[in-house]
Amino acid sequence: MYQIYPRSFADSNGDGIGDLPGITSRLDYLVDLGVDVIWLSPVYRSPQDDNGYDISDYRDIEPMFGTLADFDELLTQIHARGMKLVMDLVVNHTSDEHPWFIESRSSLDNPKRDWYWWRDGQDGQPPTNWGSIFSGSAWELDQTTGQYYLHLFTRKQPDLNWENPQVRHAVYDLMNWWLDRGVDGFRMDVINLISKHAALPQAEVPIGEIYGDGGPYYMNGPRLHEFLHEMYLNVFAGRDAELLTVGECPGTSVEQARLLTDQQRHELDMVFQFEHMQIDHGRSKWDLQGLKLVDLKQNLAKWQYGLADVGWNSLYWNNHDQPRVVSRFGDPAYWYESATLLGAVLHLHRGTPYVYQGEELGMTNYPFTDVSQFVDVESLNYYHQAVEQQGRDPRTVLCALEAIGRDNARTPMQWDGCDQAGFTTGTPWLAVNPNSGRINAAAQVGDPESVYSWYRRLIALRHQDPVVRDGRFELLLPADPQVYAFTRTLGDDRLLVVANFGREPVLVPMEMDGEIVLCNYREPVGQDLRPWEIRVFRQRVA
Ligand code: GLC
Ligand code: CA
Repeated sequence: MYQIYPRSFADSNGDGIGDLPGITSRLDYLVDLGVDVIWLSPVYRSPQDDNGYDISDYRDIEPMFGTLADFDELLTQIHARGMKLVMDLVVNHTSDEHPWFIESRSSLDNPKRDWYWWRDGQDGQPPTNWGSIFSGSAWELDQTTGQYYLHLFTRKQPDLNWENPQVRHAVYDLMNWWLDRGVDGFRMDVINLISKHAALPQAEVPIGEIYGDGGPYYMNGPRLHEFLHEMYLNVFAGRDAELLTVGECPGTSVEQARLLTDQQRHELDMVFQFEHMQIDHGRSKWDLQGLKLVDLKQNLAKWQYGLADVGWNSLYWNNHDQPRVVSRFGDPAYWYESATLLGAVLHLHRGTPYVYQGEELGMTNYPFTDVSQFVDVESLNYYHQAVEQQGRDPRTVLCALEAIGRDNARTPMQWDGCDQAGFTTGTPWLAVNPNSGRINAAAQVGDPESVYSWYRRLIALRHQDPVVRDGRFELLLPADPQVYAFTRTLGDDRLLVVANFGREPVLVPMEMDGEIVLCNYREPVGQDLRPWEIRVFRQRVA
């Protein structure tokens, strides 16, 4: 699966914003890479408060991205190349500019009033003390009726009330509309937030914080499975078995993921879980700690074992919400070695691997130096709350934004070494990374020793090799702080993966033998792994 963030992929008309014709013009690149399915981040009509994750019309294309005719052309061209297209489905919330919300807010007795979460305040305070995931209160007072509405994200993203069956059926209708148009499935945005504990209890407020964490009352809520199964019956049942669904599920455990992706239950094909993305977090995502390899590999292994027999994994390091993995878990001094190592470790786990645009080139974080360079609403809201309301040191807050802010992932795709990296002929909406002269597709596509060619090999290996697809996973050396080693076994066929997550050469305390399948140095030599070296061997099981 390859994720396209349309704003930042390819601009066809020089307005500095990526668009649908831009994507269409680059499809052969994705074919060459070996992509099967494209996940397209939202292109629906939207005021763009959260770059399209705030939708004001589910049945139209945002003009800055193109038209429905451009969309149909893109879909036709994707299908003509044997690929599929999965749409982003954002239905935990809408935009506050969606007609449903405009109606809902207009009066206490509007028929759509109950489509959102409206409540009275208490003594001038919001109905609950929950914080928004994007800082501030999760409630906004609306002057029209004097009530508050719930928004787990920005105040321009009011939460839909899934308790109301009319809401659910309106969502199923729009999903069917897109499937009838020919799309091949959905990536469902924060889908495990759709069922809230209807009593909306107060949350505990951690020391030093202004708001409480309402997560326990809105994540994986009591009716989640029921809603997803109902969605299946109303949308997917009886359609082409080739449709694909993946649910974004922050705060989901292995046990919940097993239920969500158990084929017998007909809910989702796979989920995005977040545990490995939080492995370097401290008290919050803004409090980054260094990576402890032992934690990372034990966590990934837990998910491999937990979904081995029932359910299915998705595998990812990157998306439009995460910093670039080579900057985060890799090492800029060993850019090629660490980018290829991270790619291979991920792709050789069991599950469906995701590549986020530019990951296959080893794109890195942006060298931010000032808060004025950030555009992302999550980063800016956090900065203002932390600095202005909580009095935190601006320098420390800026450091956090630089390391983990979402704009790191959103700088334009680096197509070539020309001006603006070949992304646009105009001024890009977000600055191009200054390393685009060195890190770009044109430099890497024909080069057999590039990060791109390595990803191409990984994808080809998965297509050709049943053990990569289906092999049983086993973690080796679980306590080793620097070596990530595991096997994948299918019948008498086994792959042994051994990777050095560090700059120091390391003597691997076990036998490495077999036929060499991959190595990110010219040749494997001896028992020592060099900085960020990975070797993959094929073995016969006796
Ligand atoms: C998901 C999206 C993120 C968005 C949020 C609210 O986490 O991936 O980009 O901001 O949901 O829709
Ligand atoms: Ca454009």
